[in-house]
Amino acid sequence: MGYCSSIRKISRKSKYVILLILVLSLLAWIAIFSRDMVKPIYPTTQQTHVKEESQRKEVDLQIEAANEINTPPQKTKCPQVSPLLLGAVKLSFESSLKLKDVEKDNEEVNEGEYKPSDCTARQSVAILIPHRNRERHLLYLLHHLHPFLQRQQLHYAIYVIQQAGDVTFNRAKLLNIGYLEALKDYNWDCFIFHDVDLVPENDHNLYVCDTQPKHLVVGRNATGYRLRYKGYFGGVTALSRDQFFKVNGFSNAYWGWGGEDDDLRIRVELQKMKIVRPPKNVARYTMVFHKRDSGNEVNRDRMRLLGRTPQSWRKDGLNSCSYKTLSVERMPLYVNVTVDIGKRLS
Ligand code: BGC
Repeated sequence: MGYCSSIRKISRKSKYVILLILVLSLLAWIAIFSRDMVKPIYPTTQQTHVKEESQRKEVDLQIEAANEINTPPQKTKCPQVSPLLLGAVKLSFESSLKLKDVEKDNEEVNEGEYKPSDCTARQSVAILIPHRNRERHLLYLLHHLHPFLQRQQLHYAIYVIQQAGDVTFNRAKLLNIGYLEALKDYNWDCFIFHDVDLVPENDHNLYVCDTQPKHLVVGRNATGYRLRYKGYFGGVTALSRDQFFKVNGFSNAYWGWGGEDDDLRIRVELQKMKIVRPPKNVARYTMVFHKRDSGNEVNRDRMRLLGRTPQSWRKDGLNSCSYKTLSVERMPLYVNVTVDIGKRLS
């Protein structure tokens, strides 16, 4: 009996011991398991940095790879002398020419603007053409000018500034407006002030700006290719954005034909700038024949106006050019800006 009860006591004790071992091992297992679970959620600061760093590197590599695919290779500057120049070209003035034909020949021109595809142009140039009722002349000019400017590897856009209504024409004011309106589109480096009836004959006559204002028409067919007079500054001129701004643009006071180009020369000279010209064998133009337009009669007041330019240029020009823009149409080959410029105040 005594033997049996001591055996029962021992087995009860061992049961407690086994139970205790079980409980302890359960607790130990829970402790290990919970540590493993928590580890990825609350890593140490050092672990976080390592992981973020490697993720960032991976993202950077992906962005770099995507950029390599999307970015075209950097274009180099176009050469100083374009390899596309032809020199003197034969001009044609076919009466059968249509705007559609010229558009088809210049499919790379978009809303009057063009950029060379294989190099970065050395200058961005806005061509400004004052206009009213000279559609045929405009067509001939566009036909020759677009390929001419493309051969010169320029970034350019052509703006035609139309005077609305039939009051006396004001070429100079339209050119001021062209300058102001074109600058709303792009910060052009250079402006070419271009008569609609003059077509350049030689593509070495570069439509870019110089360190000084440039006069591009040394000679034209109608006058035996000779400069009309020493100070002649009409027809086609090139002034940089800053040069034109410095002289306060053209005067707005010249209504009808003549004088406004002489006025601009005086402004240039007052600023101690010097007019430059390309060689005469290059600066040649064909003038498309036309009769004097009605609404553009000779300005008989021009000599009086020229006399007061040294006093008036600061107040009469870009800074006083008031007008109403009636429309800006982005045609395939040019931007057509139609404006109401008011009339001569007599
Ligand atoms: C006029 C200019 C014109 C030049 C050439 C001058 O008498 O004042 O505006 O460009 O003649 O025709």
